[in-house]
Amino acid sequence: MEQVNNSALAVEMSGISKSFGSFKALDNVDFSVRKGTIHALLGENGAGKSTLMKILYGLYTKDSGEIRIKGEPCEIKNPKQAIGQGIGMVHQHFMLVENMTIAENIVLGNEVTKSFDRLDQELMNRTILEFGEQYGLEVDPEALIMDVSVATQQRVEILKALYRDADILILDEPTAVLTPQEIDSLILTMRRLVEAGKTVIIITHKLKEIMASSDYCTIIRRGRVIDTVKVQDVTEKDLANMMVGREVMLTTDKEEAKPGEVIMEIRNLTVKDNRGLEKVRDLSLTVRKGEILAIAGVDGNGQTELIEALTGLRKTENGEILVNGRHIENGLPLDAHRAGIRTIHEDRHKRGLVLDFQVGENLILESYKRSRFSGLFRFLSWRKINDYSNNQIDRFDIRPAGCAMQKAKELSGGNQQKVIIARTVEQEPDLLLACQPTRGLDVGAIEFVRNALVEQRDQGRAVLLISYELDEVFDLADRINVIYNGQIVADLLPQETDEQAIGLLMAGGTA
Ligand SMILES: Nc1ncnc2c1ncn2[C@@H]1O[C@H](COP(=O)(O)OP(=O)(O)O)[C@@H](O)[C@H]1O
Ligand SMILES: [Mg+2]
Repeated sequence: MEQVNNSALAVEMSGISKSFGSFKALDNVDFSVRKGTIHALLGENGAGKSTLMKILYGLYTKDSGEIRIKGEPCEIKNPKQAIGQGIGMVHQHFMLVENMTIAENIVLGNEVTKSFDRLDQELMNRTILEFGEQYGLEVDPEALIMDVSVATQQRVEILKALYRDADILILDEPTAVLTPQEIDSLILTMRRLVEAGKTVIIITHKLKEIMASSDYCTIIRRGRVIDTVKVQDVTEKDLANMMVGREVMLTTDKEEAKPGEVIMEIRNLTVKDNRGLEKVRDLSLTVRKGEILAIAGVDGNGQTELIEALTGLRKTENGEILVNGRHIENGLPLDAHRAGIRTIHEDRHKRGLVLDFQVGENLILESYKRSRFSGLFRFLSWRKINDYSNNQIDRFDIRPAGCAMQKAKELSGGNQQKVIIARTVEQEPDLLLACQPTRGLDVGAIEFVRNALVEQRDQGRAVLLISYELDEVFDLADRINVIYNGQIVADLLPQETDEQAIGLLMAGGTA
């Protein structure tokens, strides 16, 4: 960043280092933010973004380095001191009291009282509504936290910081939990905050949002600052390359598909959800060898129930599912497995991994019975399993290197997904179901996962991709089926349509 007068800086962190045990999470980091700007902190999962901001907010103590706030040197030992300096932080995981109202949560610990120590409800509600209007953070002060959406809870967290007079707001991955519309609205709020003279630091690994919202961006990689840039001077691709440390492809390279015989045929399938509502209605589709069929649709149009029916996790009401000519409707998960289906589940914590198992154990979850993993008397051979795991960890670049004995829950999201991919493709499935396979991953990991799917296709496997993101659909699909209200409403080739047309179909319109 060009030299600026110190009084123009809201935050100056210099020479910050921090280790956890022998692991150096931050190495001599310099980070300065100008007053009245939106400043993005960009980095892959595990780069050290949250750690740096937790130091600023007094949640972690730095090992070395200096902090100045609005030009003044200061030691921030706890969040109370940070709040005293006008710093507010909205965490990745919200910290609200579920059974209290929005207003109660906002004022908690900072209550305004009238005579006899009674809470001044009216003043409280009025203040909250005023803030809401000024910054586009409308909430119902009387609603209980447990009854409101995640987006609203996030507004409450921001209001809470504003209520404590924060003029430097740190938002840690605020968009990870939001829909596209909610993201637009958050960006608008950030703009209004800086118009009112506040400073916003946003942690993210999503390039589009930085381009759309931020003035400056600092890129950190493995605990070191790579650069601070003015966002208008760079492209998405520049940011991606700096973040990952190599040339990253934002679109996946692939040849034209050579579809072969039909692997799966679904005929007139109807599936109900837990409440007994028909979520998949008379749905038919086919997937062939050597093609990626993408199902485009808005979340909640039957995708989850469809996958559950295909994997033996949910009963079907009507219709047939044929895989390699075998009926698997109303079968067990094992029947789907035997028919040649492997799945990358939407919820990798619930369905993809046993989080408390080691990485090595997770890598062999579906194949531990194979003779290659057994030793004397057919007992599992941990030596063989370890050799195999370490090999896979290398091949799939699962980090940290040599993590075979580490618990799966200790890995970052991207690396957890690599464990699942490694396990899945190793079994050479006939049909790979990939549900939201890149959700929450950074660009480096996204590139990896997408290439892996194309590679599977090129090896002649059938891939059924379920994605809520049109970017991903267009990047990967050889054919697109649009799902709306439980039915396939269009079967199109990507080259004969575009995002607008598909978006319209996804919303129930006609092309
Ligand atoms: N409290 C902690 N104890 C041990 N290691 C930690 C702790 N907090 C973070 N780390 C490690 O420091 C690195 C950076 O983490 P973090 O700052 O959360 O990354 P980011 O927010 O960029 O994804 C990671 O390798 C993480 O495992
Ligand atoms: Mg983080």
